[in-house]
Amino acid sequence: MHNKKILILSTGGTIAGKGKDILNSSKYKAGAIRAHALIEALPPMKASLYIEEIAQIDSIEMNASIWQQILESLLVNEKNFDGFVITHGTDTMEESSFAIDLLYQGEKPIIFVGAMRPSNAIGSDGIKNLCNAITLALSEKLQGVAVLMNDKIFNPKTIYKSHTYNLDTFKSRNGGEMGYVLDNEVRFFYLPQRHHLGFNHFQTMPQVEIVYIYAGIEDLPIWNYPIKGLVIAGCGAGNIPHIIKEKLRKLQAQGIQIIACTRGNEGFVLESEFIPSFGLNPAKARILLALCLQSYKTKKEIKDIFSLF
Ligand code: SIN
Repeated sequence: MHNKKILILSTGGTIAGKGKDILNSSKYKAGAIRAHALIEALPPMKASLYIEEIAQIDSIEMNASIWQQILESLLVNEKNFDGFVITHGTDTMEESSFAIDLLYQGEKPIIFVGAMRPSNAIGSDGIKNLCNAITLALSEKLQGVAVLMNDKIFNPKTIYKSHTYNLDTFKSRNGGEMGYVLDNEVRFFYLPQRHHLGFNHFQTMPQVEIVYIYAGIEDLPIWNYPIKGLVIAGCGAGNIPHIIKEKLRKLQAQGIQIIACTRGNEGFVLESEFIPSFGLNPAKARILLALCLQSYKTKKEIKDIFSLF
């Protein structure tokens, strides 16, 4: 037994994926193996490892009710553990890590980790990433949420998935990674800024949709349910054609809050007649707007919160 205790919250993903044979790293089932099989494949670690199975899914099925389960587990267990590692599919890791980062206000390290190759493929990255994530959680250098992939430590506010298959898929918007883990060494270039925005649950997130702007777009999609907010993935610096702007103005006048984002992976949107997304990409802006709409109402209040990012 070790003095330090790490709780692994498993949710599935390619890190728990399995293909038909070892040459298969593109066609496989995500979330196919149980968390204890991953732990058994680890070399001896400097901590006692515990498991809580939260879900067993491909992360494209991730949603706010699973975020709520993760959050509740962190809050219930934080007194008893030195750190947490969350195994997760890479497809929506940028959203889940950002969501938990917005709500977790405690001091424990929370490390999201995944893999690009399934557990039984040649050159699978899962066990190495998991080792690194546990090392980072034990390092006492981080409070709050980070993502560990391919030896690099990422900030949930800026991380995005850039490649469909490559191991070096994760990039950091407007800058590099926060640091790296190399064998047992953890090195930070900078530590994340943490925001205390008073959000405390994911249970009443209102409907917020994303509209992708393209050359020739003439209308907005029609939703069969009431939306409370809209994120526009505009072109360049958040640009939106006149015909769409007219329609958005009408929605804004009806009380729907509108965020102007960019389709681009780099840069920011600082100015808009709607609410600029500042440094957030559309997927993250959607989460922040839905959380804002739970408690902040005015355009100015919401803009002030976005301006922190
Ligand atoms: C997933 O996101 O669950 C599948 C893809 C991956 O983990 O790389």
